[in-house]
Amino acid sequence: MAKEAYVCHDDLFNAEAVRNARAVDDRVRELAPVVKLARENITMIARYEHVSKGLADWKTFSSTSRPWHDPKSVRPEILLTDDPPRHTQVRAVISSALSTQALSKMADAFRRDADALVRGLKEKSGTVIDAVADITQPFVYKVLPDLLGLPLEGREHMYAFGNMVWATMGPPNELYKAAMEDTDGAVLEWANRCCQRENLAPDGLGMQMYLAADRGEITPDEARLLVGILLSAAADTTVMTMANAIRAFCEFPDQYQLIRADRSLVRAAFEESLRWDSPSRMAGRITMRDVEIEGVVIPKGERCGLMFAAANRDPRKWQDPDRFDVKRDNRGHVGWGYGVHSCVGRVLAGLEADALLGAVVEHIERFEAAGPPEPWMTTIGHGPAKLPVRFTAAVN
Ligand code: HEM
Repeated sequence: MAKEAYVCHDDLFNAEAVRNARAVDDRVRELAPVVKLARENITMIARYEHVSKGLADWKTFSSTSRPWHDPKSVRPEILLTDDPPRHTQVRAVISSALSTQALSKMADAFRRDADALVRGLKEKSGTVIDAVADITQPFVYKVLPDLLGLPLEGREHMYAFGNMVWATMGPPNELYKAAMEDTDGAVLEWANRCCQRENLAPDGLGMQMYLAADRGEITPDEARLLVGILLSAAADTTVMTMANAIRAFCEFPDQYQLIRADRSLVRAAFEESLRWDSPSRMAGRITMRDVEIEGVVIPKGERCGLMFAAANRDPRKWQDPDRFDVKRDNRGHVGWGYGVHSCVGRVLAGLEADALLGAVVEHIERFEAAGPPEPWMTTIGHGPAKLPVRFTAAVN
């Protein structure tokens, strides 16, 4: 006989839960393989085995709807909201623009920006800085709009726009309202302007979406939505993952010294940061058929959360999961997602990390925490909004 899903009455998305998201998500994973959230009327799956299988099976776990789905929200309804075949066609366009071949020419420019930024910090050696506001955010918020070909004017709205889009992925609670109130019409007006062809640089990544429309590969409307998704999906994920790497450098100084001794470990540190504390708590999906997990049947039409971050720390899969270990074999982690929707921007994020974390490792001898991190108060995104650290500059 089929078993019932474990019913949980907790609120996983209020301010207190968001402040403790790591512990909250780990607890859900340990409650049961299938957890029904009574408040939200959704089902959560958090164990690695089931999350990775679910992400791979898009026919069962469809992206065409999800928990709290509002098709009229500010979130660009494209790619992450589609299944094949429409998804395949649109993804081909963005994926060729973001391929290793297309992006490798950016590596030098990224390195120059990163080097200038981190060198500029060296005079603050010994003082307390905020690793988000002073290191990871200014870097991403420069190189990303430069790459997209956005005008300089209005870039100060990047954070508020990203924060609004992230808020739409979670429940319409007090944090959602704060994200929406955090702004006025100026932010949306700016985001809309950024997505219009006439405002994009002719040689930027944004324009490439419109050139694909000219070739008939997608429609002009899809091109506009793709620029919107680039603007919202690419920024804070990368800011948070690199900030978490710096947090790990404070908490695991032995690992930082390993990377300083062998710079080829920089990319491994970025990947391990993504496994260790993923910047997205879950993917939203809807079931297209009844699906059984360990004797529990999730009915067709159920809105589900596949919990990336909890799966990446599942002790059934990872040994000593809370340890940040740059030499760990972390292949198969789901920080990039998995399957047809797995992150199409990972080459870009990796190049940014090579440049920025590479410059950090070169110019900074060691980090120490200078107070607790302040969490990003959003429901589905996860990471430090402020990360106070003290550092010692390297002599070079
Ligand atoms: C460390 C940084 C990043 C992380 C952790 C990350 C994480 C993810 C994850 C988990 C997914 C899958 C979501 C799902 O299955 O529902 C995803 C998809 C996606 N990401 Fe990223 N991402 C990062 C950087 C980027 C960048 C730099 C870009 C763009 C240049 C980007 C663009 C996208 C897009 C467009 C999708 C949707 C792909 C599809 O549906 O086929 N991401 N990302």
